[in-house]
Amino acid sequence: MHFHILTLFPEMVLQGLHTSILARAMERGLISADAVNIRDYTMDRRHGRVDDYTYGGGAGMLMQAQPVYDCIEAVQSSLQKRARVVFLTPQGRVFNQSIAAELAQEEELILLCGHYEGIDERVLEESVDDSISIGDYVLTGGELPAMIVVDAVSRLIPGVLGNGASAETDSFQDGLLEYPQYSRPEVWHGRKVPDILLSGDHAKVDAWRHSKALDRTRERRPDLFQAYMQNHPEEKAAGKNLPDGCN
Ligand code: ADE
Repeated sequence: MHFHILTLFPEMVLQGLHTSILARAMERGLISADAVNIRDYTMDRRHGRVDDYTYGGGAGMLMQAQPVYDCIEAVQSSLQKRARVVFLTPQGRVFNQSIAAELAQEEELILLCGHYEGIDERVLEESVDDSISIGDYVLTGGELPAMIVVDAVSRLIPGVLGNGASAETDSFQDGLLEYPQYSRPEVWHGRKVPDILLSGDHAKVDAWRHSKALDRTRERRPDLFQAYMQNHPEEKAAGKNLPDGCN
């Protein structure tokens, strides 16, 4: 998967992405990310401006259509096939695990980061395929949202996570929050690891984990719990089929 991040702050994006698991995935050629500076495409050679006042008045500046358009076209023309262009904006569809899984199917992805008060609507109409928000709050630009999308999508690419199973047991992957987990020591600050996890009985451990995932989702995310129960009517009797000690 190749990510092309179009931004006025390439160093911010590159620094954030070239660390830890994503850096290792890049070294191994599983993903790549390049940051393209939209300012390189301005016609204003003297001042390098990419923004201007908004027609109709109002506070703040707007990114102009031309440099954004030319930047997108330069990236598209370097690719064998036109890539999906995703604009990061609080006005987009709200990002979640299923959108991450959908984007992970693409071979190339162009992520467009806005700044100032936004981008001239005409280039969005002409060149953008999809808009994504990372939540109902407003940030100063699309760079952090783009990095979040790259991270969430990359970890779904086969081989990026060391252990192939980890992405499948994540929170949200099956519509539930993840069950609680424990590592050594067996007792810490007087708190003991639940006995069932030490039992070696895998069926019981799985049933316990599922039960905890249901409890946790019901308590913390009633919206997800309701959706899960609607999709899994057979679990309406949750708890009844669980082995002793799993509730
Ligand atoms: N740009 C500014 N705020 C944003 C948000 N919440 N999501 C995506 N892009 C943004």
